[in-house]
Amino acid sequence: MASILRASSVWVCLFLLLAAVNGQDDFDIGEERKTHLNFFFHDIVSGPNATAVAIVQSSVMNSTAGRFGLVVMVDNALTEGPNISSKLIGRAQGFYATASQGDLALLMTMNFYFIDGVYNGSTLAILGRNSAASQTREISVVGGTGYFRLAQGYAIAKTGSWNATSGDAVVEYDVYVVHKGPASASTSNPGGAPGSGQTSAGSRSTVYFPVLLLLQAAYFLCFLGH
Ligand SMILES: *[C@@H]1O[C@H](CO)[C@@H](O)[C@H](O)[C@H]1NC(C)=O
Ligand SMILES: *[C@@H]1O[C@H](CO)[C@@H](O)[C@H](O)[C@H]1NC(C)=O
Ligand SMILES: *[C@@H]1O[C@H](CO)[C@@H](O)[C@H](O)[C@H]1NC(C)=O
Ligand SMILES: *[C@@H]1O[C@H](CO)[C@@H](O)[C@H](O)[C@H]1NC(C)=O
Ligand SMILES: *[C@@H]1O[C@H](CO)[C@@H](O)[C@H](O)[C@H]1NC(C)=O
Repeated sequence: MASILRASSVWVCLFLLLAAVNGQDDFDIGEERKTHLNFFFHDIVSGPNATAVAIVQSSVMNSTAGRFGLVVMVDNALTEGPNISSKLIGRAQGFYATASQGDLALLMTMNFYFIDGVYNGSTLAILGRNSAASQTREISVVGGTGYFRLAQGYAIAKTGSWNATSGDAVVEYDVYVVHKGPASASTSNPGGAPGSGQTSAGSRSTVYFPVLLLLQAAYFLCFLGH
């Protein structure tokens, strides 16, 4: 009986050690960085080259102050300067929708997809309320990919120009995000990439709590139990 107990505790002990080793299958998510981006968003709703197109109109859209229930799909250019012919640094892809009956407030649901410099191929996910009639508004940044992995932050949007005849608007964005990035990514700004990549050293936790618990259990069983 004693030898069976002893044999089974050896197995439990081996299992715990193995589990602890497997639990350490950690991955490198890079160092924490802070990035501020400045660029211009071109909401072109008119003409043959419109990049913002209404896809849904509710029955109450024209009878509510907030034009409630209009959904606009966008593939808007993001440029370095306010002129649409300035350098293209990415596109805003997704949709916005009028989500308030009272005032003009948009639900922004889109990715900012960057094509320039170290940001090439990376995205920031935008999800938030945009009170479009205010001169300045704040929208949340809820995630990111590539250079912007695990991004969290906020975007400040300011209408630069709005053509009342065509409805076209140019909006200046200042985006502030804290994120992790590939360890190899440089924080310099080649090719006039937008904004300034400010870096802050972050903490990297390699052994997490369950692993510590398993190691402790293994230690007690294997070394103190005998
Ligand atoms: C639309 O895009 C085409 C192709 O890029 C261009 O030749 C044309 O001038 C544009 N039209 C307007 C009104 O911007
Ligand atoms: C709202 O008004 C616009 C412009 O007057 C019109 O084109 C559109 O069909 C109207 N939409 C609805 C749902 O009544
Ligand atoms: C935008 O840039 C184009 C080409 O460089 C130029 O012709 C145009 O005047 C500029 N527009 C404004 C509003 O500065
Ligand atoms: C961005 O990446 C794509 C695909 O990897 C590449 O073809 C393109 O040249 C890159 N653009 C810049 C500006 O680095
Ligand atoms: C505003 O849009 C109208 C109609 O497309 C156009 O004729 C006019 O030149 C635009 N105004 C400015 C300042 O771009």
